[in-house]
Amino acid sequence: MTDKKDPTKLWGGRFTEATDAFVERFTASVEFDRRLYRHDINGSIAHARMLHKVGILTAQELQQILHGLESIRDDIQNDKFEWSIALEDVHMNVEAQLTKRIGDVGKKLHTGRSRNDQVATDLRLYVRDEIDQVADLIVKLQLALVNLADAQADTIMPGFTHLQTAQPVSFGHHMMAWYEMLTRDYARLLDCRKRVNLSPLGAAALAGTTYPIDREYTAQLLGFDGPTRNSLDSVSDRDFAIELAAFASMLMMHLSRFSEELVLWTSAQFGFIDLPDRFCTGSSIMPQKKNPDVPELVRGKTGRVYGHMMSLLTLMKSQPLAYNKDNQEDKEPVFDLLDTVKDCLYAYSEMIPAITCNADLMYQAAKQGYATATDLADYLVKKGMPFRDAHEVVGKSVAFGIEQKKDLAELTLEQLQSFSELIEDDVFQVLTLEGSVNARNHIGGTAPEQVRAAIQVARSMLEKR
Ligand code: ARG
Repeated sequence: MTDKKDPTKLWGGRFTEATDAFVERFTASVEFDRRLYRHDINGSIAHARMLHKVGILTAQELQQILHGLESIRDDIQNDKFEWSIALEDVHMNVEAQLTKRIGDVGKKLHTGRSRNDQVATDLRLYVRDEIDQVADLIVKLQLALVNLADAQADTIMPGFTHLQTAQPVSFGHHMMAWYEMLTRDYARLLDCRKRVNLSPLGAAALAGTTYPIDREYTAQLLGFDGPTRNSLDSVSDRDFAIELAAFASMLMMHLSRFSEELVLWTSAQFGFIDLPDRFCTGSSIMPQKKNPDVPELVRGKTGRVYGHMMSLLTLMKSQPLAYNKDNQEDKEPVFDLLDTVKDCLYAYSEMIPAITCNADLMYQAAKQGYATATDLADYLVKKGMPFRDAHEVVGKSVAFGIEQKKDLAELTLEQLQSFSELIEDDVFQVLTLEGSVNARNHIGGTAPEQVRAAIQVARSMLEKR
């Protein structure tokens, strides 16, 4: 048999013919996994140091390897590295280049490890770095929301259920509702980080290795909390990526809700707020338009993040232990969901502080739609009427108001008294928007006093992060 095998392949020993050109392209991941180069090199540095510590590499060999890896890192950073599809992935590109630069010593680096534990390590390191960036962006956005809430704690807007006017609320209270959603996202992210931050390095291909490796040491060098506990699970587990995607999906769901409200509020029909021009775009045909493209796009990008979560879940479904090539498909969803989430959080953290509120328009809107009807019912209850009866009385008053085209506060005392004798002239205080909002003065209520208390709690939480 003639030997036509490709000498560039690091695993070519048992092969007798070159890889099909299509298969080479189809199975290669270097086009996207080269993003992992810094983490791959850091993982290799830790591995090499450990090999020296346990007596597998001499001090001189270690130094050669470290220099080689650092020079490769510099070249990649400066765009001077030539990536090769024939070398399949980031791991083999770096390793082949190392041997090219430092000679046969480079071939010792892969002692006691496999690309299977290597890639799992790289991805965890990458995800951990990104988690820290995402966490900072969440905090930045939360701070922006708290500041806006502080400035607008006394601004009254209509609160909605079913998108119908329900009861007046403080605009600051609404901002703090968004803040709360992000508090949960932050907690989920940090919880996910705990399971990301374990080192699979040393699991090797699937069963561990015959060399006297020190997994605690590599874990420590790489800033992991410790080594993972089962080699088969270590190389195949991608739960952390799915958890990350679940976190990201929930976060995007929240951002899509903020977006929907911003889009509504900036419309001529609501007019509650203005977004700065630099966050909007115009229309090529309608000169009057100022479109809220940024929130719309954030809303739209929610779909792709949900998609990535489904991709990752489905990718892992039914996979037998241990590593399977399927797992190469984990990278693009993870990269893209992180890019997307970071962009969206950045956009929001810049946009929120630049919002201007049209307090008058919000106030006028809150006066429409009988937002204080519940307050009238509560007023009657406090005067001794059972709530269900009060509900009925107020319902009739509202129907009368609609007929007269008047708000409850605009009816005369006599007109109101025709629905219940319990109504006296102290009722008008209750029917004002301020009275309604101020009356909801308990933990979690919309009274500006409570909003300020919530802001204070939030500020002290944020300072600790
Ligand atoms: N490029 C591969 C991946 O992304 C690296 C691990 C390959 N391992 C293997 N046994 N083929 O998963």
